[in-house]
Amino acid sequence: MTFLEAMQTRFACKLYENRAIENPALQEILESARLTPTSFGLEMWAFHVVQSQEVKEKLYHACFDQESVRTAAVSIVTLARPAPWYDPDGRPVKEKGSRFPGNLSDFIEDFRPYHAFLSEHNRLDCWSRSQGYLAVANMMTCAALQGIQSCAIEGFDESKVLALLGLFPSDWLVSLVTTFGYPAEETRPKIRESVQNLVVYH
Ligand SMILES: Cc1cc2nc3c(=O)[nH]c(=O)nc-3n(C[C@H](O)[C@H](O)[C@H](O)COP(=O)(O)O)c2cc1C
Repeated sequence: MTFLEAMQTRFACKLYENRAIENPALQEILESARLTPTSFGLEMWAFHVVQSQEVKEKLYHACFDQESVRTAAVSIVTLARPAPWYDPDGRPVKEKGSRFPGNLSDFIEDFRPYHAFLSEHNRLDCWSRSQGYLAVANMMTCAALQGIQSCAIEGFDESKVLALLGLFPSDWLVSLVTTFGYPAEETRPKIRESVQNLVVYH
């Protein structure tokens, strides 16, 4: 299957078969998340894999009782760090920045004005959360390439999702919940605008 064929056959799956996802396939999906780029390469994120019946049940309720979550073999909660973690002089940025070749202080001075811009416009949390959407897109296409369906789930109660994972809002934001599994429903055809309606060349 090509990348575009995977995108054509992927659909937002609301009901899954009672069938586990094999570990190599799950690891490949997680690898596609890990390899996803982040702004300034900061990787201020984490991926929590929900497989146990007990946690799955809690996640189902935190996602407003969506069947996709209840029946999924696996749900991955993509998490992002909240604004204070991006302080250019704070330890997290220094730790992440020190992984890169070159001078850490150059990295921090490069990051500082953009951080100030995001901060002034109150966009840090939104910017952090949006990084996760790229990883989710990659995970969904990676899954589809392996015949596994998925659904991005934005309908969740963030405080409940964090609590059931044993996390604190001071440490984490929830980007997205994504369900994965083998579908127990027919593939739905794509409804998309035409390229002519969407693309503008300048
Ligand atoms: C960011 C995002 C959030 C979504 N949240 C939900 C959700 O909470 N529940 C749900 O059933 N579908 C959700 N969806 C699925 C969309 O409704 C679906 O992807 C869209 O209608 C296009 O259909 P397709 O994915 O089958 O092509 C979400 C999709 C995206 C991209």
